[in-house]
Amino acid sequence: MEMLNIFFCIILIGCSVLARAQDQSGFISLDCGISSASTYNDAITGIKYISDATFIDSGLSKSISPQFQTNTISQQFYSVRSFPEGVRNCYTLKPSQGKNNKYLIRASFMYGNYDDQNKPPEFDLHLGVNSWDSVKIDNESSIVIKEIMHLSPSDTISVCLINKGTGIPFISTLELRHFRTSTYPTPFEAVVLYRRVDVGTLTNQFIRYKDDAYDRIWKPQNFPNSKVINTTLAIDARDNNGYNPGSAVMGTALTPINASKPLGFYWEPTDSTARYFVFMHFAEVEELKPNEIREFNVTQNGEFLYGPVEPEYLYTNTLSTTVPVSGDYIEFWLERTNRSTLPPILNGLEIFMVKDFSESRSDAKEVDAIMDIKSTYGVKRNWQGDPCAPKAYSWDGLNCSFIQGSDPPRIISLNLSSNGLTGEIAASISNLAMLQHLDLSNNSLTGKVPEFLSQMPFLTVLNLKGNKLSGSLPVKLLERSNNGSLSLSVEENPDLCLSAACQKKEKQKKNFVAPLAASAGIIFVILAAVAVFLIHKRRKREVVTKVNVEDENQVGKNLMESKNRQFTYAEVKLLSRVHHGNLTNLVGYCYEDGHMGLIYEYMANGNLKQLLSGRNTYTVSWEERLRIATDAAQGLEYLHYGCNPPIVHRDVKSENILLNDKLQAKIADFGLSRIFSVEGGGHVSTAVAGTPGYLDPEYQINNWLNEKSDVYSFGVVLLEIVTRRPVVTKSFDEAIHISHWVSSLLANGEIKRIVDPSLGEDFEINSAWKIVELALACTSRNSSERPTMSEVVVELKECLKKEVARKRGGHGTRSRAPREGMSSINIETDSFPRPR
Ligand SMILES: *[C@@H]1O[C@H](CO)[C@@H](O)[C@H](O)[C@H]1NC(C)=O
Ligand SMILES: *[C@@H]1O[C@H](CO)[C@@H](O)[C@H](O)[C@H]1NC(C)=O
Ligand SMILES: *[C@@H]1O[C@H](CO)[C@@H](O)[C@H](O)[C@H]1NC(C)=O
Ligand SMILES: *[C@@H]1O[C@H](CO)[C@@H](O)[C@H](O)[C@H]1NC(C)=O
Ligand SMILES: *[C@@H]1O[C@H](CO)[C@@H](O)[C@H](O)[C@H]1NC(C)=O
Ligand SMILES: *[C@@H]1O[C@H](CO)[C@@H](O)[C@H](O)[C@H]1NC(C)=O
Ligand SMILES: *[C@@H]1O[C@H](CO)[C@@H](O)[C@H](O)[C@H]1NC(C)=O
Ligand SMILES: *[C@@H]1O[C@H](CO)[C@@H](O)[C@H](O)[C@H]1NC(C)=O
Ligand SMILES: *[C@@H]1O[C@H](CO)[C@@H](O)[C@H](O)[C@H]1NC(C)=O
Repeated sequence: MEMLNIFFCIILIGCSVLARAQDQSGFISLDCGISSASTYNDAITGIKYISDATFIDSGLSKSISPQFQTNTISQQFYSVRSFPEGVRNCYTLKPSQGKNNKYLIRASFMYGNYDDQNKPPEFDLHLGVNSWDSVKIDNESSIVIKEIMHLSPSDTISVCLINKGTGIPFISTLELRHFRTSTYPTPFEAVVLYRRVDVGTLTNQFIRYKDDAYDRIWKPQNFPNSKVINTTLAIDARDNNGYNPGSAVMGTALTPINASKPLGFYWEPTDSTARYFVFMHFAEVEELKPNEIREFNVTQNGEFLYGPVEPEYLYTNTLSTTVPVSGDYIEFWLERTNRSTLPPILNGLEIFMVKDFSESRSDAKEVDAIMDIKSTYGVKRNWQGDPCAPKAYSWDGLNCSFIQGSDPPRIISLNLSSNGLTGEIAASISNLAMLQHLDLSNNSLTGKVPEFLSQMPFLTVLNLKGNKLSGSLPVKLLERSNNGSLSLSVEENPDLCLSAACQKKEKQKKNFVAPLAASAGIIFVILAAVAVFLIHKRRKREVVTKVNVEDENQVGKNLMESKNRQFTYAEVKLLSRVHHGNLTNLVGYCYEDGHMGLIYEYMANGNLKQLLSGRNTYTVSWEERLRIATDAAQGLEYLHYGCNPPIVHRDVKSENILLNDKLQAKIADFGLSRIFSVEGGGHVSTAVAGTPGYLDPEYQINNWLNEKSDVYSFGVVLLEIVTRRPVVTKSFDEAIHISHWVSSLLANGEIKRIVDPSLGEDFEINSAWKIVELALACTSRNSSERPTMSEVVVELKECLKKEVARKRGGHGTRSRAPREGMSSINIETDSFPRPR
C-alpha cells in the first residue's frame, strides 16, 4: 500500500515536471510566405517560426504593403501566402505526437493590401474534410484569428483554405500546440474558440507564450462593479491540473466590490442552436485566515450547475460544463454560499463552440494508395487534403462514390491521361479496390501490364493507349475484354505484344507457362479465399439482404436469417437511384455463388421493433418517438413524392425502420418496392405482398396498390410507437389488431391507458391525442380517408416542435437586462487581440 502511494506520487511529479518544463516541442509555428528554409525567433514571445514552404504544395509568397509593416504588429504578419489557383489549397501538419492527441490549431490573417487591390477577401477555412469557419477580413489592417481545439483521429492534420468566389484566400500564420488529452474534455472531435479571457487584469495586456506555456492567447478583461485581487507568488508552482494557464493569468482574479453580490457573465448567441462548452479557471490568490472561507455555487440560467467551489490557494481548479449549453441568452453566476465569509472570484474563462465534424473521410487505405501514386509519379495537380471529401472539392482527375452514413467515400475512377507519367504502372493502384474506370493514356509508362489489373473486380474501363508498355497482356485481361466485361484500349504501345505471332510465341513457351499458370491459379484461389473471408467479416456488422424478385409473395429477410435468394440487376438499379437521409443507403453489393447480396449502411441501434421490444430496458422518450416517426414519415414521403416515378414501399413495418447511433430513423428494405405510375388511374394491380397486421385491408381485398397502402402500414407503426404493444394480440380465440384496441380505448377517452406506461407522466396529453388520432386516420379502412404522407409529416413535425419547446421550456425566460449594480459582463463585447 505504502509502496503504491510512493510510486503514484513519483508518476504525478514526473508528469507535472514534464508539463512545466514545456519548451516548444509541442509547437508547430509557421510564418506563411517567408522564403523556404528561413527561420527566426519572435522578438517578444521568443517563439521560433519557420517557413511554411514544406507544408504545402501551392500558393505564392507575398509581402503586405510597406505602409502596414509597422513595428506595432508582429513580424509574422509581414508576409502572407496567397492562393490564386485552385478552389481548395491545404497545409499538411504532421505533429510528432500523432493521432488521438489534442491540438490547438490557430490560423491568423492580416491582409495588409498585399495584392494592391484594396479589397480584403472572404473565404472559408476547413480542418480536414470538415468546415471550420468563414474568414471575413474587414479592412487592410484588421487581424483575424481562428482557433480550434481538435482531438485528431489521424496522424496528419490538414488545414484548407477554400476559395468561394469572394476574393483570393491567403494566410499569415499557422500554429499548432499540443495539449494533454485530458484537458478540455468534450465528446466532440473539434470545438472552436469563442472567447478566452484573462479575468482580472492590472496591465490590460494580452497574455501568451512564455507566460502561458501552451501559447494560448488571453484577452484581458475586468468586469464592472468588481475589483482585482492579485498575488505575486507563482501559481501551480509544484503541480498543475494540465490546463496550467500560468501565473500571469491565474495570479489576478476578479471579485465583486460589494462582497454580498454575485459575479457573472453572459452572452447572447445569434444562433440559439449553437452549443458551447465553458471552462472556468479558479485559484485562490489571498492567503485566508483560519476564520475565513471563500465558497460559492455556480448557476447557469438560474439553475444550479456546480458547487460549492472552494478555490485552492495558488493552485488552478478548472470547472467545465459536461454537456454543451445553448439558447439565445446564456448566463453564468458565481454566488457565495451562506457560510462563505468572502465573495466569489474568477481568474480565467474559456468558451468553445461545438463544430459538427460529421463529414466522412476517404478510406484510409485508399488515401495511402493515392498519396503513393501522387509521389511515385510526381503528379503536378492540385492534389491536397482529402481525395474525395467534401464532395465539392474532390481531387481533379478522380471520382468517388458517396454513400451517406458512416462509411467512407471510395475512389471509383482515376484519370491520369496526358500527365507525363513515367516508370511502371504503380502497384498501389491495386489498393483502389472499387475502381471502375482507369485512364493512363498518353503518358510514357514503361514495363509490363501488371497482372493485378485483370483482378480488379469492378474495373470496366481501362485505357493504356499511347504509352511505352512492353511484354504481353495478361490473359485474363484479354478474356475480360473479349467477353465484353471490360473496355480495354492498348493501342499505340509499340512494344506491347498483341499479335497472333505473339500468342504463338506464348504457346511455344507453354512448358514454361504451365507451372506459372498453375501458381497463378493458386494465388487466385488464395485471393478468392481472402475475399470470401472479408465478405464474411464485413457481413457481421452489416445488414445484407437478398431478395427474390421472381417470388413476389416472399418478404425480404436478413441474410443473417440465412434466406439466400437471388437478385436481379434492375433491382439494384432501383435501390441505387433512391437517396434520402431517411432511407437506408445501399453501400454496395457482393456477388457470391451466383447470389447477389445487398450491403446497407451500418445502423447501430438496430430496428424500431427491437428498440420498442420488452427486452430493451432503455425508455425511448416521447420526443425521441416523435422524431423517429417524423424521420420514417419523411422517408416514405420521399418515396411517394420525391421519386419519379413514385415508389410504393409495400412492406412498411417497425422491423423495416432502422436506427443509427443518433437514433435517426431510416426506412429499409425496398425489396418489395414497386414503382407505380400516377397516370393510369393511380393504382396498379399486383399480387398481394407485405406483412400481416400491417397490410392495407383494401389492397388485400382488391389488389389495388397505391401509396395509401404505405400510409396504412405507417399508421400501424405509429400506434406501435405510441403504445409499445404488439400489432396483433391474441386473447382467447380471437386476434385483436392494435388499431381496434386503440380506437376502443380512445372512444372512452382513455388516452393514458393507450400510451406506453413506461413513459410515466413525461409526455403531453394533447400531443398524444393528436398522434393517436393521426395514426387512426392512417389506418382507415377506406384509403380515400387516409391522409397523404406529406400531411402526416406536417402533423408530426408540428407535434415534435411543441414537444421540443416543452422540454426546453423554463430556460431563457429570465430577465435579460444585466442586473443593476451587479458584477456581470457581456463577454461578447470586443473580440480579438489587437496587435502589439
Ligand atoms: C478595421 O477593422 C477593425 C475591425 O476588424 C476596426 O476595429 C478598425 O477600426 C478598422 N480600421 C480601419 C482603418 O478602418
Ligand atoms: C498586486 O500587484 C501589485 C502590482 O503589481 C503589487 O504591487 C502588489 O504587491 C500585488 N499584491 C499582492 C498581494 O501581491
Ligand atoms: C451590497 O449588496 C447588498 C445586497 O444586494 C445590499 O443590501 C447592500 O446595500 C450593498 N452594499 C453597498 C455598500 O452597496
Ligand atoms: C450551494 O450548493 C450546495 C450544494 O449543492 C447547497 O447545499 C447550497 O444550498 C447552495 N447554496 C446556495 C446559497 O445556493
Ligand atoms: C441562505 O441564506 C438565505 C438568506 O439568509 C436563506 O434564505 C437561505 O435559505 C439560506 N440557504 C441555506 C442553504 O441555508
Ligand atoms: C467524373 O465524373 C464526371 C461526371 O460524370 C465525368 O465528366 C468525368 O469524366 C469523371 N472523371 C473521371 C476521372 O472519370
Ligand atoms: C481523361 O481525361 C482526358 C482529358 O484529360 C479525357 O479526354 C478522357 O476522356 C478522360 N477519360 C475518362 C475515362 O474520363
Ligand atoms: C498527350 O499529352 C501531351 C502532354 O504530355 C499533350 O501535349 C498532348 O496534347 C496529349 N495528346 C492527346 C491526344 O491528348
Ligand atoms: C469475362 O471473363 C472473365 C475472365 O475470364 C470472367 O471472370 C468473367 O466472369 C467473364 N464475364 C462475363 C460476363 O462472361
